[in-house]
Amino acid sequence: MSAPSMTLYYNAASPFARKVLVLLRETSQVDRITLKAVALTPVSPDAEVCANNPSGKIPALRLADDNVIHDSRVILEYLDQQHVGNPLIPKEGSARWRRLTLASLADAVTDAALLIRYETFLRPAEKHWTEWLDGQREKIARSLAYFENEAVTELSSHFDVAAISVACALGYLDFRQPDLGWRSTYPRLASWYYEVSQRPSMVETQPTV
Ligand code: BEZ
Repeated sequence: MSAPSMTLYYNAASPFARKVLVLLRETSQVDRITLKAVALTPVSPDAEVCANNPSGKIPALRLADDNVIHDSRVILEYLDQQHVGNPLIPKEGSARWRRLTLASLADAVTDAALLIRYETFLRPAEKHWTEWLDGQREKIARSLAYFENEAVTELSSHFDVAAISVACALGYLDFRQPDLGWRSTYPRLASWYYEVSQRPSMVETQPTV
């Protein structure tokens, strides 16, 4: 086994970093990466991350040639071109745009869940913007309803970029909004999620503080 050639800036609670960790496992590339854990929020960024990614966001991946790439979508695309197994992002055709669109909708769920987390955890209670929080929750509800009614069969077909993104979004909802109770409203999605949650790549990357 050769020494890791890339460094991933990540946080064990980050759902976007989790997508990368899951894909690394699904494509047998874990040994190529050194993990660099960073603690950060939008109001207290990490200096080293900012020096590598001006947005201050994780995940960011330092490549063997010292270039740094970000965000999770770009990193997934890069890593999916670095292994010899079946691609987890279709390379062309309508499947590519469909799977990336499902992944993008999942990322919108994750974005909304993160915004809710920041608003409710970082901002003083008297400053919470209720209508804005409701807007984020409605975004999540519309998206989960779409996955339930229009996409769950497609998601079941293989554990690729779309499925990984939806699974990590749902995992983050469970982690930070455990009282949401989405399973009773979206039972087919819940059943799909139960299945994919058993995968070693998901078990080994469960979010932690
Ligand atoms: C969280 O604690 O929820 C979190 C931490 C880092 C990045 C994203 C989320």
